[in-house]
Amino acid sequence: MKHLREGSKSLILKEDMTVVSQREIAPRIFEMRLLGEMVHEMKAGQFLHLRVPDPSKLLRRPISISQIDKENKTATLVYRVEREGTAILSSLTAGDRLDVMGPQGNGFDLSVLSAGQKALLIGGGIGVPPLVETAKQLSAKGAEVISVLGFADKSAVILEDELRRYGKVYLTTDDGSYGVKGYVSTVIDELSEEFDAVYSCGAPGMLKYVDKKFAQHPHAYLSLEARMACGMGACYACVVHLKNQAEASNKRVCEDGPVFAAGEIEF
Ligand SMILES: Cc1cc2nc3c(=O)[nH]c(=O)nc-3n(C[C@H](O)[C@H](O)[C@H](O)COP(=O)(O)OP(=O)(O)OC[C@H]3O[C@@H](n4cnc5c(N)ncnc54)[C@H](O)[C@@H]3O)c2cc1C
Ligand code: FES
Repeated sequence: MKHLREGSKSLILKEDMTVVSQREIAPRIFEMRLLGEMVHEMKAGQFLHLRVPDPSKLLRRPISISQIDKENKTATLVYRVEREGTAILSSLTAGDRLDVMGPQGNGFDLSVLSAGQKALLIGGGIGVPPLVETAKQLSAKGAEVISVLGFADKSAVILEDELRRYGKVYLTTDDGSYGVKGYVSTVIDELSEEFDAVYSCGAPGMLKYVDKKFAQHPHAYLSLEARMACGMGACYACVVHLKNQAEASNKRVCEDGPVFAAGEIEF
């Protein structure tokens, strides 16, 4: 394992990790388990920057860490095959090696919650994976976890059982083919309880709703996506703008994020 840079807040490593298993858990959605020393450094909500094993693919692909098992030195990623890069990643099988940079970014701040407090987790589609480790760690510290997950339709539903292990799960589908018909907002707007922290990850439309709804909440967090190149804060390919500030106030999703506080970023 090679140390690429040791900054004040992050240690970026590069390692050839070993693929332990890979399987398709829903149409075009794969779960890949990786083994390596880097697992010891991983935190909920961080991502890995994966080199696609193909010489024509120069840019790494950012994928969130879905589950961390420090004891067995394995991490699980769940990703959707979009185009060529992710298609090549999905063809890897047990025993293959994968060049991984990370763990990168600032993950979810779980320290704001203590035992007996309540967390609301909001996930949409392929944004659900990082919530599994988040739920696992919150529940381990005695917090109550309630998840609201939204998917396009029944075939796209993933990680429902995993999240049910850690608390109550509400599920919505856009077309009503499973769970409540509608978006996550359909359920959340009806919840009467107060939450001590909110953690969310999903499509921009969903995050925009969460951002607005919880803008005044002291502990509401959104995990964002952006097109990335270097993935370690140097190239500024991934900037987002701060709300109510001049154009020059940029934040980098890869380095300052991917997690930001609600009310902080301009959508
Ligand atoms: C912080 C972060 C975490 C992510 N976590 C997950 C995850 O857990 N599961 C998952 O399925 N997807 C995740 N994504 C999206 C994933 O990175 C893209 O789907 C993937 O890079 C697409 O690669 P491709 O070669 O198949 O597609 P192409 O469209 O051919 O990719 C071309 C280029 O665009 C970049 N790109 C394309 N889509 C995205 C995107 N949405 N975000 C950033 N760069 C993109 C690629 O990295 C590549 O450099 C995440 C993105 C970010 C930024
Ligand atoms: S991808 Fe280079 S700064 Fe974020």
